[in-house]
Amino acid sequence: MSVDLHGRSFLREADFTPEEWAWLLRLAGDLKAARRAGAERRHLTGKNIALLFEKTSTRTRCAFEVGAHDQGAHVTYLDSSGSQLGHKESIADTARVLGRMFDGIEYRGFGQERVEELAAGAGVPVWNGLTDQWHPTQMLADQLTMIEHTGRPLSEISVAYVGDARFNEANSHLVAGALSGMDMRIIAPEPLQNEAEVRAVAERIAGTTGARLTVTDDLGAVEGVDFVSTDVWVSMGEPGDAWTERIGLLRPYQVNRALLEATGNADVKVLHCLPALHDLGTAVGRQVYEATGLDALEITDEVFEANADVIFDEAENRMHTIKAVMVATLAEGVIAARTIAW
Ligand code: CP
Ligand code: NVA
Repeated sequence: MSVDLHGRSFLREADFTPEEWAWLLRLAGDLKAARRAGAERRHLTGKNIALLFEKTSTRTRCAFEVGAHDQGAHVTYLDSSGSQLGHKESIADTARVLGRMFDGIEYRGFGQERVEELAAGAGVPVWNGLTDQWHPTQMLADQLTMIEHTGRPLSEISVAYVGDARFNEANSHLVAGALSGMDMRIIAPEPLQNEAEVRAVAERIAGTTGARLTVTDDLGAVEGVDFVSTDVWVSMGEPGDAWTERIGLLRPYQVNRALLEATGNADVKVLHCLPALHDLGTAVGRQVYEATGLDALEITDEVFEANADVIFDEAENRMHTIKAVMVATLAEGVIAARTIAW
């Protein structure tokens, strides 16, 4: 299969065809294998990449930095406190400046419209490293991890995402699951389910791929799934006082031993995009514990540790998949991307 993504931005899953999405996954698998074999070829030598972070990050920033270095590119990191972005300079002006100096730009921040505006004005590929609405690089990592841990195609894999489903992670699971023809179940209390617009986008794609999509508040929908996935109950940028309301709604939706038993699948595996509030090792975790007595939130420590091999493979795969996005969109000509065997 020949796919050419040179010069394209990577803003949300729905901008890609199922073939393009699958090709990115295969390219990521190939780059991962090449790195492990010590046989990685550099496709981005001499490229300059800007990393814009209006929200904090561990995995995404490191994945872009290490992926770029592995491929021979240079990176410049900018955040809101150390640059003019956000307070003295608009996104539109920032886009025009960075587009003249850099070959590609990563953006993590708030509304999706900000990354779209950046892409419209920069004239170089822009990659979404997370917005309130979408987290598309995370989905490539999650899907690569699911393939690796089952040895099956995504069209034969079922996932239950359980937790807060109004935000980036659950929206991206629904649409990426649709693109890959998966059995994707979103399980959340009604006020925290994906918006109608997101569901419509996913359903339209599912109509072309045969994906089976479910959005429900019924925890019984975990029955038979291969994977359970979850995310923090209060996301970056949300007010701290959201915890009380969110815990009230989501406590029955915690990923714990009983929920895994309800799947009826003794081999069920758990994904988490991280960071996770599974113990008292974080300031937020300790604050919530003092207020509520809960020593874990979206996932218990027992379940987290029992699935640590999957969860940290998923974290590592952020790097291989983000590298694939940079190579696919930046490597000179279509030849560089096509010559990678998969
Ligand atoms: N999963 C994820 O995006 O992690 P970071 O917030 O650390 O980048
Ligand atoms: N929903 C989370 C994802 C973190 C990777 C957030 O936006 O904070």
